[in-house]
Formats: sequence, structure tokens, C-alpha cells
Amino acid sequence: MARVLVSETLADAGLDLLRAAGHDVDVRTGLSNDELRDAVAGAQALVIRSATQVDAELLDAGDSLVVVGRAGVGLDNVDVAAATERGVLVCNAPSSNVVSAAEMTVALMLALARRVPQAHQALSEGRWERGRWGGMEIYRKTVGILGLGRVGRLVAQRIAPFDVALIAFDPYVSAESARAAGVDMVSFDELLERSDIITLHMPQTPETAGLLGAEGLAKCRPHALIINTARGGILDEAAAAAALDAGRLGGIALDVYETEPMTESPLFGRTDVVATPHLGASTAEAQDRAGTHIAEQVNLALAGDPVPDAVNA
Ligand code: MLT
Repeated sequence: MARVLVSETLADAGLDLLRAAGHDVDVRTGLSNDELRDAVAGAQALVIRSATQVDAELLDAGDSLVVVGRAGVGLDNVDVAAATERGVLVCNAPSSNVVSAAEMTVALMLALARRVPQAHQALSEGRWERGRWGGMEIYRKTVGILGLGRVGRLVAQRIAPFDVALIAFDPYVSAESARAAGVDMVSFDELLERSDIITLHMPQTPETAGLLGAEGLAKCRPHALIINTARGGILDEAAAAAALDAGRLGGIALDVYETEPMTESPLFGRTDVVATPHLGASTAEAQDRAGTHIAEQVNLALAGDPVPDAVNA
């Protein structure tokens, strides 16, 4: 029997699987960094979502760790190299929430284009502002997808019936594979210059950090809408606010922030921005999938069996 420290909310189905394997499941959410370091000492497994920063210091405190399980996709909050150096396996649930993330993207795209949250807010406050919240059709617009991986492709599939032109930039995807998904590959600059709507679906890596900053935003069309459900650090929030102020962008919808939790972004409190608190994976279905998938991977790791979704095996 191993002790599994779960530092963020995990679906019951996942917790049940860990317990069914005979492990002592220690759910401790909302811990400070110091408390987390104390709690991880002696645990054989650590299960996290996106809020727990697994750095070298935490790994050192986890003197008995065999595996870190990330109940979700992004691994930008895990120092995988430091885990590897210490012989700690890292695994994730790579497809658990991609449908939810794609659906959230479409929800934000439509909400921003038709200014639904702004109109809802006004009416909730007793103002019938029918003349104020006009929007833009998606029909026959050019949608630029930055990152044509799993989520980018699901977004393409879901918005294609709106009769849009789909273009993408992704240095790791061939033109043939994109064409099979109904998408034309273009350069980064061409995507910025042609798109009416730009949607971000890249992981946060040293290559993508700050990718869409002042220089890139200056190339966008003045009515362009930007949707970011990927990672906050890819879009420079201060530069995006400046572009909106200067009338060089139509609007922004974002679910992710350079640091989280975020309550003071320069993009908050504006009528040309729709903001949500990292809800892309927050559906019952995605959480169930992430919880059960990561529990299965952690159980395999603790049993000494091969772990299919290990990223540093
Ligand atoms: C992910 O990377 O899986 C999503 O951003 C959701 C999450 O962080 O849990």
C-alpha cells in the first residue's frame, strides 16, 4: 500500500480507483507551499491539476515519490527534467479534457462575437441596451488556429459548419495533415494578417511564451477577435490591453492567465473582453475522464508496471 497525496480536486471516480488498488488516499487541497512540502514527505505518489507547482524543491521534499500524476493535459506546472533527474515518473491524461477545451473555445468565440456576457450583465443590472451590444457573424470569416494539435483540430471540426475559412500555423504539422482536417497551413505572420478570429491552442513552452505580443498584435486586423483557452503566457496581456485601447483589435476572450489565480489582469473590467477563470476542463465529463485516467496511470506506476502516458519513462 502506498500513500497518494492528492493536492487538488480530483473526481470521485479517480479517488475510488486509487482506493480500490489499496492505496491510502490523502486528499489535501488548498495547501500553502510550506504545507505542501510537509504533506508530500513520505508520499509515494502526488496527484495534481494545474495549480500545484511541482518544482525541484517540492520534488526534494517528496523523498519517497515514485510518480507525479497530472490530472489533465498541460505539464507547464511540472519541472519534468527535475523529476527525471530524481527518478520520479511523470504522467498525464493527454486526451481527457480536449473536447471540453474545444467546446469552451467555441462558447467563448460566440460569446465574444455576439457580446452575450456584456448584454447579460447590463440586463441583469436592469438596463435594456438593445442598441449597444451589436456583434459580428462568424459566417464566412477567416479563423486562424495557432496550434493544430488535438484541441486545435477539434475546434476546427466544430466551427467548420459555420462556413468559415480555416487557416493554421503550427511548425509541427504538415500541410497534408492539415488539409485532411480542412485547414490551410500558413505562416505565423500570414495568419495574423488574414484572420478575423484567432484562437490559441499551443502548449506553454519556452518557444511559445509571449508568442503573441506587441509585435504580433500590431499585425492583426483591427476588428480581429482573439480567443485564448490554451495558456496565459502565450498572449501578452499588457500588450493585448494596449492594442484594445488603441483600437487595433476587436476583442479578446480568455480563460487562462500568465499567473493563476488571476484577479487583476489589465484585461479585466472592459466591455471588449470576456474572461473566465480557467474553466476549459471544468465539465463533469472531462473531470471524470481526467480523474480515472490519472488514477489508472498512478496505479500502474505504483505497481511497477509500464505506464502508457508517462512523459519521462
Ligand atoms: C489542462 O492542461 O489539462 C487544462 O488546462 C485543464 C487543467 O489545467 O486542469
